[in-house]
Order: sequence, then C-alpha cells, then structure tokens
Amino acid sequence: MATRRVPELDPAVVEQWQAGGGELIDLLAQAREQLGGVAAFRLGPRPTVLITDPVAVQHVLALHPGRYVKRSHRARLLIGDGVLAATGEAWQRQRRLLQSQFTGRGMRRYEQRIAEAARTSAARWDAYARTGQVFDVGDEMRRFALDTIWRSLTGHPLDPATERELAAVPAVVAALPSLPADSAAAQGEVAAELARIDAVASHAIAAARDNAAGPDGPGLLHVLLEAAQTRPEYTDGLIRDELVTLLVAGHETTATTLTWLYLLLDRNPEAREQALAAGADGSPERRQAIQALVHEALRFYPSAWILPRSAAQDDTLAGYEVEEGTDVLVCPYLTHRDPELWDAPARFDPARFTAPGRRPTHPGSYFPFGIGPRACLGLQFALRESTVLLEHLLPTHTPSFRSTPEGAVYSITVRPDGPTPAVLAG
Ligand code: HEM
Repeated sequence: MATRRVPELDPAVVEQWQAGGGELIDLLAQAREQLGGVAAFRLGPRPTVLITDPVAVQHVLALHPGRYVKRSHRARLLIGDGVLAATGEAWQRQRRLLQSQFTGRGMRRYEQRIAEAARTSAARWDAYARTGQVFDVGDEMRRFALDTIWRSLTGHPLDPATERELAAVPAVVAALPSLPADSAAAQGEVAAELARIDAVASHAIAAARDNAAGPDGPGLLHVLLEAAQTRPEYTDGLIRDELVTLLVAGHETTATTLTWLYLLLDRNPEAREQALAAGADGSPERRQAIQALVHEALRFYPSAWILPRSAAQDDTLAGYEVEEGTDVLVCPYLTHRDPELWDAPARFDPARFTAPGRRPTHPGSYFPFGIGPRACLGLQFALRESTVLLEHLLPTHTPSFRSTPEGAVYSITVRPDGPTPAVLAG
C-alpha cells in the first residue's frame, strides 16, 4: 500500500498561535479540525504528530508499543525510576510485581481501606453540612484520594502531619512544566519540597520495615519490602521511587476526575437524580449508574489528557510515513470529543456508558486509562474508590458552589483553573 506524508498544519497558523500565547490544546484542536485524526505541526525542526484517530491510537499504544516509546518522563525528578517512568526490562519486572497487586485477588485487599477512607470523607461532609462551613470540593477530593492510596500503601490512615508534608507533592507537580530543562538546576528549584517528600517516604519505609503490618493489615509497601529480600534491584531508592510514583499517579488523577464530576453535576443535576433512581442503596444497578457518571466525567476530562511517545523507528501509521525520532502526541481529550465518533459530544450523558449501542466500541475511541501494555495500573482501583466515595456522598450531600472555575489548565493533568468553594445544605 502506498504511504503518504502526514498532512501538516500551515506554519502561519502555528506562528499565529505562538504569537497569541495560546494553550497547546488550542493548537492541537485546530490541527485535528483542519487535518483529521493523524496531523502534523512543526514547533521546532522536526514535525510533531498528533494522533486522535482510534485506529491510529490503537496502533501506537496497543499494537506496536515497541515502535512508540515513552520519552524521559517530565516528572522523573519526582518519581525517579518508578514504574511510570521506567523502560525496558526494568519496567517489565516492576510492572509484573505491581500488576498482581492491582487486579483480581490483589484488589480485594483494598476494599476495606477504600470504604474506611470514604467513611472518613463522608463524616467531614456531614460536619460541613451541620456547620455551613465553606469548603473546597477539589481539596476534599484530593484528601480522599490521598488517604485511600496512603492506606493502601502503608496500612495506616493518613495522619495530619504526613498530609501536611505531602502538600509538597502537588507543589512539585505544579512547578514541573516551568522548571529548567537541566535536571540539576530543576532539582535545585524544588529541593526543599523534594526533601520533604523523601523524608515522608523514608519514614514510611522504616515504619513498614519495623512492624509487619498496619491496623488494616500489610500494605503495598510491605510487598515491595518482601520483594527486596530476594530481588537486589529493589533497593531503598527504588522502593522510595515506587512509593512516590503510586502516590503521584494514584491521587491527583482520581481527585481531578471527581472534582470535574462535581462541576459537571452542578450543571446537570438531573444526572445525579437518575443515577440514584437506577437502584436501591448498595444495589448493582446504582453502582453501575454511578460508575457511568465517572466514565462520562473521564470522557470530558481524561485527567492524563495527552500521552507523549517518541517513534523508535520508521513506521507506517494508518497509511502515513512516520520517521524515527518523531514526537507523537496521543490525545484522548480530543478523541473523546470527536463528533464523528460521539453523538452530541458536548452533552453530559452518562447513559452512553450503560445503554447498549450508545458509544463507539473501538478500543481507541475511549481510553482515559490508556490502552496496551503501559495502560494504567490503577484502573480498577480508581474506578472502585471513585464509585465507593460517590455511593457515600451522592445520596446525602449536594454541594452548592459559591463560584466555579471558568476553564481548565492543561498541564500534566487537565484540571479546573481555579478554586471550587462550596457549602452543603444542613
Ligand atoms: C481517574 C484516575 C486515573 C486516570 C485517569 C489514570 C490514567 C492513566 C493513564 C492514561 C496512564 C497511561 C499513561 C501512558 O500511556 O502514557 C496511567 C498509567 C499509570 N497509572 Fe493511572 N490513572 C488513574 C489512577 C491511577 C491510580 C489510582 C493509580 C495507582 C493506584 C495509578 C497508577 C498508574 C501507574 C503506576 C501507571 C504507569 C503504568 C506503566 O507505565 O506501566 N493510576 N494512568
């Protein structure tokens, strides 16, 4: 089959976008609209290829992941050699160990901890309702997600001192896009925050080493320490990196998803009513309807909105030539809003995920957790914790927002661009 060059965006359009100081998402949306699901644009000497077409998405992420490799991860100075940034054989070994902890029987160990964290959160919401105190929905979601992953890692609930120290994590994540390219200089700029995170990690590792299990039984950290007894690659450094990776990957994503969902429900209150009416408290029908709310929020705002790869060899991709070294951006955010794939994509319609035949079924058309060998390790965990929290909160509390953010920040995750203050009716 004859191959063609990937259609390229007019350099004048790129210049205009640069001059206007626009967001990357605006340029990507223009490229998609003008050129289709495989589109190139040039920011430097080489073209960058944007992928939104489902067949091309599947080709890059799932069918030929060896041809499109992860580039050095932007968060490497925070997560080190943890599974999110690792490559090659080291990644394979690390992934295998963690995978068993996040599927099937491994997942069941977290049920109790997720339920405890949800009850703790619901108790705080009850207090907000009683006192009429203004609280921030985004902060609440972050507290819940951090508590859940911390309990799962260590076997202990998140204590206030650790919670305070871990505020350094979002501080580093927020700083990442503007840090200097030189890694020593970048490290220097966030040295104080990294030191606080390292201190929390080494304290948690020492505590896990000293006592076999927390009140809720052994945590994932104990599994890593056990692995270290037979596998020399699990040094304290790597255990620290896995711990921080799971904290970073495992809480901001879930927290922003839940925050977006609350903002979407504020504009679409009937969706909450419908989910609760789908079945009685604790019924599978209600659980499925609540999970559909989460999926629809993830369709609108897949928190990992862009998945960068680098072509490791020349390739033919959906009939187009791609040269070795090309930067490739797979963008679930745009695929999820493509009117050629989704009926009325701007409408918040959770029934897409419950009623048969209401959504495109190609694996490359809906992929908030990625697809293929590097897909999200925490998929089941994230869906479970989100659903359980909402089962607790939705029936009793509806936040009334004092103000809502106008737009989104498209950084490492896509998040609301302002605070989300709210009150609860008593
Ligand atoms: C709604 C919540 C979440 C979303 C939307 C999400 C999304 C993603 C996506 C898209 C990837 C693949 C990135 C790529 O291909 O470049 C990923 C990877 C990953 N996620 Fe999640 N994630 C979520 C929650 C979680 C949770 C709760 C955990 C841990 C408990 C977690 C742990 C990881 C890890 C370790 C990886 C790296 C896997 C690898 O490279 O082998 N994530 N996530």
